[in-house]
Amino acid sequence: MMTTKSGKPLSRIALGTLYFGTGIGREQSQELADTYLGLGGNQIDTARCYANWLPEGEGASERTVGNCLKKHCREDIFLGTKGGIMPKGYNETRGNLSPENIEADLEASLAALDTDYVDLYWLHRDDYRYTAGEIVEMMNRLAESGRIRYYGVSNWTAERIRQARDYAKAHGLMGISASQIQYGLGVCTPQDWGDTSVVCMNRREYDAYRAMNLPVYAYSAQAEGYFSIYLKGGSQALNPNTRQKYDTAVNRVRARRLRELGEKKDFSLSWIMAEYVLSSPFPAVFILGGSSRQRLSEIMEGYRCERKQLTEQDWNYILE
Ligand SMILES: NC(=O)c1ccc[n+]([C@@H]2O[C@H](COP(=O)([O-])OP(=O)(O)OC[C@H]3O[C@@H](n4cnc5c(N)ncnc54)[C@H](OP(=O)(O)O)[C@@H]3O)[C@@H](O)[C@H]2O)c1
Repeated sequence: MMTTKSGKPLSRIALGTLYFGTGIGREQSQELADTYLGLGGNQIDTARCYANWLPEGEGASERTVGNCLKKHCREDIFLGTKGGIMPKGYNETRGNLSPENIEADLEASLAALDTDYVDLYWLHRDDYRYTAGEIVEMMNRLAESGRIRYYGVSNWTAERIRQARDYAKAHGLMGISASQIQYGLGVCTPQDWGDTSVVCMNRREYDAYRAMNLPVYAYSAQAEGYFSIYLKGGSQALNPNTRQKYDTAVNRVRARRLRELGEKKDFSLSWIMAEYVLSSPFPAVFILGGSSRQRLSEIMEGYRCERKQLTEQDWNYILE
C-alpha cells in the first residue's frame, strides 16, 4: 500500500491543481493548498503539461505547487505529477513514452517542483509504440534512480494495465500502483470529451477495476460542476466545453433524479460527487479540482466525518 515518505496513510481526496499558477493565481493557489492540507488532505495532483495551452502556462502548475509546499513538510505530502505527453495542448494530446521524453519530462518536473523525488509519477497517456513490458522496465529503472517512489498510468485501458501488471509480476518488478481516468457521477466518453486519447469509466473498465482491485484516481469527478449548474440554469447556463462533455441524456436523468431527491431531503451536491467515487467497490481517490475554497472545505468536512447522505435505495434510483 502506498504511503507518504514519512509513512502516513494517504487521504482519499487529492487536490487537483490543473489551473494553479494560471487561472488560479499564486496567492489563491497557496490558500487552497493550505486549506486542503490543514483539513487533513495529503495528496497533490499536478502534471508537466498544466497548463501549457494557456499563455505563460508552461510548467505553471508544477512551479506553483512547488512554491505552495515550501512551508509544509515535504515527506508528509504525497506528490503526484505526470509526464509523457506530446506538447500539443488541451484536448489535442497524445502519449510519447520514449525513454528520452520521459527522462526529460521527469527532470523538468523535479526542477519546477523544486524537489528531488516524485511520490507518484504518472504516465499521462498511453503510447502503443511500446509494449506494456517495455514500459514497466523503464519505470522500474526510474524508481531505482530514486527520483520516483511509485508509478501510475493515466488514460490507459484496463486491458493494457493488466498486461503491465502480469509482466511486472512475472519478472519480479514493481507494478503499476494506480490508474487515473475520468470517473464520476457525470458520465462521459472520449467522443464527448473531444479527445480519443482519454479513457473514461464505463461498464467494462469498472468490472476490470473491481477484479484487479487497483486504486483508481478519479479526475473530472465533479463533472466540472455540471449537475449544480444544469439544475440551476439548464443547458444554456453551461460553458460550451462542459456542455459538450456532460450534457447528455444519461446525465440529465441523473440530474433530474438528484433534484427530486433534493426536494425530499437535504444534502450537499458537492459532497455527493465525492461520496459517489469513494463508495466504489475498488480503492478510489477523488481528485478535487477547481478554485472554490468553500467547496473544498465542504468536501474535506464530508470526508473527515465519513458523511453518508444517500441510502442505497437513493443511489439505485439515481443510477438506474
Ligand atoms: N489525468 C488526466 O488526464 C486529467 C484530466 C483532467 C483533470 N485531471 C486532474 O483532475 C483534477 C480535477 O479535474 P477537473 O478540474 O478537470 O474537473 P472537476 O474537478 O470535475 O471540475 C472542476 C471545475 O468545475 C467547477 N465546479 C465544480 N463543482 C462546481 C459546482 N458545484 N458549481 C459550479 N462549478 C463547479 C469548478 O469551478 P470553480 O473553479 O469555481 O471551483 C472548476 O472549474 C485536475 O485539477 C487535475 O489535477 C487529470
